[in-house]
Amino acid sequence: MLEARQKFCSDFTIAQNWEDYSEEEHAIWRLLFERQQRLLVGRACAEFLDGLGELGVAADGIPDFRRLNEVLDGATGWRIVAVPGLVPDDVFFAFLARRQFPSTCFIRHRDQLDYLQEPDIFHDICGHVPLLMNPIFADYMQAYGEGGLKALRLGHLQRLARLYWYTVEFGLIDSPEGLRIYGSGILSSAGESVYCLEDPQPRRIRFDLRRVMRTHYRIDDFQQVYFVIADFQQLFDATRPDFAPIYRGIAALPDLEPEVLIDEDVEYRPASSLSRPRRLERTNFRPPRPA
Ligand code: PHE
Ligand code: FE
Repeated sequence: MLEARQKFCSDFTIAQNWEDYSEEEHAIWRLLFERQQRLLVGRACAEFLDGLGELGVAADGIPDFRRLNEVLDGATGWRIVAVPGLVPDDVFFAFLARRQFPSTCFIRHRDQLDYLQEPDIFHDICGHVPLLMNPIFADYMQAYGEGGLKALRLGHLQRLARLYWYTVEFGLIDSPEGLRIYGSGILSSAGESVYCLEDPQPRRIRFDLRRVMRTHYRIDDFQQVYFVIADFQQLFDATRPDFAPIYRGIAALPDLEPEVLIDEDVEYRPASSLSRPRRLERTNFRPPRPA
């Protein structure tokens, strides 16, 4: 069985053929990288910026997976494998469970700098891979892969997919310096890296596993809600329990739309209003005087 799966997996991998990237493709990488580098200082979490630095991913051009893998494998035992695009769910989970991160190889065109619905190499390598240098996050991603295979067996893939979406892709973290980004979908988007922290529109709610698993998400626009973890250890601990009874428990509860608040939610204010000194609203309320 395991052998069959491994064979199946290896069918989806391709060679990156790093030598074949054109000057235009490297130039697009540089544009994207330089723009994000400016935006992410003070917005991305320290774990991400550290990982990016240690990997030596830089603005020179599209990196060679062989070089990145030497650093990544040495740090946490993860490896990047090249794939042509999105792979089937079971294949994706099996990769993660073996500490292999399936990355696309193509880069978006110049007229798609701001938005792309499918992952490209900039999203995969600049968004996801730096956090795989962090030992706790590296373990979380492997556990997620194992949990994915189990959710498939139990028929609860949709609930588990929401967890991935609201953590790995769009997660925020409450760092000592303030709210920071760790979700890769945000980190690779210029517009959303500012919007998620500073725009008054979206909600920022304290992470709660069941709450997240009940919440729909949209893939065609900036998010309406973000979930905030305290740190990676908290995320890892919250997702350690057996999900089978949790899936059964929330099956009886209604799903939630992204913009809806429920009583248990704890909201965070946007960074801009947090950093401004709080004005104390003294109302000096006095009972009306009897006439
Ligand atoms: N503990 C989960 C389960 O039993 C597995 C998991 C771990 C899922 C981490 C997601 C993230 O299914
Ligand atoms: Fe992604």
